[in-house]
Amino acid sequence: MSADQNRIQSPHSARRIIVAIDGPAGAGKSTIARELARHFALLNLETGAMYRAFALKALRASLALDESSGLVELAAETSILLEPGEEENRVLLDGEDVTGLIRNPTVTEAASRVSVFPKVRAWMVGLQQQLGAKGGVVMEGRDIGTVVFPHAEVKIFLDAAPEVRGQRRYEQLGQLDRKGSAAPPPPPEEIVRDLRARDQRDRNRADSPLKPAADSVLLDSTNLTLEQAVAEAVKIVNEKLGAAGLSC
Ligand code: DC
Repeated sequence: MSADQNRIQSPHSARRIIVAIDGPAGAGKSTIARELARHFALLNLETGAMYRAFALKALRASLALDESSGLVELAAETSILLEPGEEENRVLLDGEDVTGLIRNPTVTEAASRVSVFPKVRAWMVGLQQQLGAKGGVVMEGRDIGTVVFPHAEVKIFLDAAPEVRGQRRYEQLGQLDRKGSAAPPPPPEEIVRDLRARDQRDRNRADSPLKPAADSVLLDSTNLTLEQAVAEAVKIVNEKLGAAGLSC
């Protein structure tokens, strides 16, 4: 990584470049975003962790997750910060480090439910736009290329077959379990069932559904190892930057 690469500028503004990565759960977004960030010396911001932190707060407050008004009131008194880390983002909810508390199935399900409400999304999108305002980031989520940063220089839509995503999620949860930061994972079939339900909700919600931006590059990781998918993603970023005259 040269010092010049460190300062890749967007042609549209004074900010540095933004790489948007969207896609369903288990497609490999986190790994690919983390590795791209390392490769291009960018910050990696995981927006799903923000929805998860907010869902945790809603669960702790025993709020009804299918009613917008209580959630919107809660959002008004909530601060969520992401701090880039080596492996994953550190997530601060009202100043409390909740990084280790937001990956369990209850919070996962709740995050998908609270994220359907337009006012919750508008608040979250505002926070994410502030976090990425200077650029120099890889931001991953569901609506980064379509809503949060529609002018991102590089947009990748990452997908994979549900069974493959379920198996990856199972292995990821197993690793967390072994590290002592999560309960043992449910069986893979149960994970696939939950993934499909979450996909259904994420893809069909009225506001900012999960879908590829028209100018995104599709990367299907079904038949790729994560290493191969990372290599493909690096190629896509280099090609996009090269085509825009931004490569070094
Ligand atoms: O990426 P993740 O699995 O951590 O995301 C958790 C939930 O948050 C996901 O089911 C939908 C929601 N989400 C969203 O609606 N928009 C984003 N940009 C990121 C996540």
